[in-house]
Amino acid sequence: MGWCRITILCLIWQHTVMVRSEDGLEDDDLTSRLRDGRLRFAGGSKGSTFKVALFADLHFGENAWSDWGPEHDLNSVKVMSTVLDIERPDFVVYLGDVVTANNFLVHNASLYWDQAISPTRARNIPWATLFGNHDDARFEWPIDWFSSSGIPQILCPSANVSGELQNEMFVLMVLDEFILNWEGLFSGGDKCVFKGTTRLELMRNEITRNTLSYTGFGPQNLWPSVSNYVLTVVSPKSDHNLPVMFMYFLDSGGGSYPGVISNIQSEWLRNKSQEVNPDSSIPEIVFWHIPSKAYEKVAKKVADGRTQCVGSMFEESVAAQDAEMGMMKLLKERPSVKAIFVGHNHGLDWCCPYEKMWLCYARHTGYGGYGTWARGARILEITDEPFSLKSWIRMENGTLHSEVVLST
Ligand SMILES: *[C@@H]1O[C@H](CO)[C@@H](O)[C@H](O)[C@H]1NC(C)=O
Ligand SMILES: *[C@@H]1O[C@H](CO)[C@@H](O)[C@H](O)[C@H]1NC(C)=O
Ligand SMILES: *[C@@H]1O[C@H](CO)[C@@H](O)[C@H](O)[C@H]1NC(C)=O
Ligand SMILES: *[C@@H]1O[C@H](CO)[C@@H](O)[C@H](O)[C@H]1NC(C)=O
Repeated sequence: MGWCRITILCLIWQHTVMVRSEDGLEDDDLTSRLRDGRLRFAGGSKGSTFKVALFADLHFGENAWSDWGPEHDLNSVKVMSTVLDIERPDFVVYLGDVVTANNFLVHNASLYWDQAISPTRARNIPWATLFGNHDDARFEWPIDWFSSSGIPQILCPSANVSGELQNEMFVLMVLDEFILNWEGLFSGGDKCVFKGTTRLELMRNEITRNTLSYTGFGPQNLWPSVSNYVLTVVSPKSDHNLPVMFMYFLDSGGGSYPGVISNIQSEWLRNKSQEVNPDSSIPEIVFWHIPSKAYEKVAKKVADGRTQCVGSMFEESVAAQDAEMGMMKLLKERPSVKAIFVGHNHGLDWCCPYEKMWLCYARHTGYGGYGTWARGARILEITDEPFSLKSWIRMENGTLHSEVVLST
């Protein structure tokens, strides 16, 4: 029994490593429905829509040693549940800063990551995640712990590595050639760790244990950037796989390395988009976490009265990536790119026209993270034949605002 379990796990694991390690797009037979990166419109009838909910900046796991930390996580679950029940989306995108790793001491941040995806999973809705600047950050000791208040009694939860789990872990460890340092996993004593769980660990824990996850590893030459992959929304007609829209997911860094989209990521996307959409005839949308410098430019034009936007513009200033390395140039040149969606700034939820596309923020969804602006989620609604892309914000109290047509 034990061996059988281990062997099966081996096979699944080996397969996953093989298909995933090269490129998230190439897998097509690990439970074929999902790992081929294709999502089908529901319904199949004319006039059907494909709806996506964006959950940004949930910041799970903060201040586990206080009352407010766990309370915030419960409230974030409520926000997501409300939005999911009202909107009933076909797909959910977790737009980074799913957890606040610099504020907890667990061995395995997937414990919190898992809580954050649970409302979506519980409703059987497929999803994809990408990384923000807090997801793999290392623990930051609060300075006031060193003043008179002192260091609180911290319970450092750790994965309960039972006998069976140890076997599985051992197998994973042996087979796993490209990631991970499992050091410390088996040492029961040191339960607190101060380094974050790596992007690769987080992603692997998610995709190997969730059949509804469409998240993918990017190619290894984009390292240390990880969440780079492409998903395809295909026609509602079940007899063919005609793409209706491509969704590009990118890792905008931060946390364990600078907050940038590298030149090699741009080159990869140039190659990838050429491959999947050579004549730029199919609409494309793009997701990452930290706004690019172009968001700053747009916000300035708005302040000068030169651009019309929808949504909250002036609650705070744009906190952009550290540098621009060519991604915006590439996206500007592709007529098929309709919109970019980011999180990171909790007080902003605008959409503004830029060149021939739209730059949009999501809406702060989590109770974790800075700011007390009301929580909500950006919703995207896509139609086929003719193609259209509409968006709005759905708030926690059920109200809707900032409706905008991003493409027709
Ligand atoms: C980390 O947590 C996830 C989610 O709870 C779990 O699936 C995984 O086995 C854990 N990994 C380790 C190394 O404990
Ligand atoms: C770990 O799991 C085992 C088996 O499920 C259980 O008996 C034990 O009490 C757990 N230990 C801790 C520290 O939770
Ligand atoms: C992009 O494609 C070119 C030409 O095939 C190749 O030489 C290059 O390595 C590719 N770059 C990336 C980042 O995939
Ligand atoms: C819902 O929340 C928004 C944002 O906080 C607020 O402006 C609005 O008045 C609320 N509406 C209702 C019906 O509670």
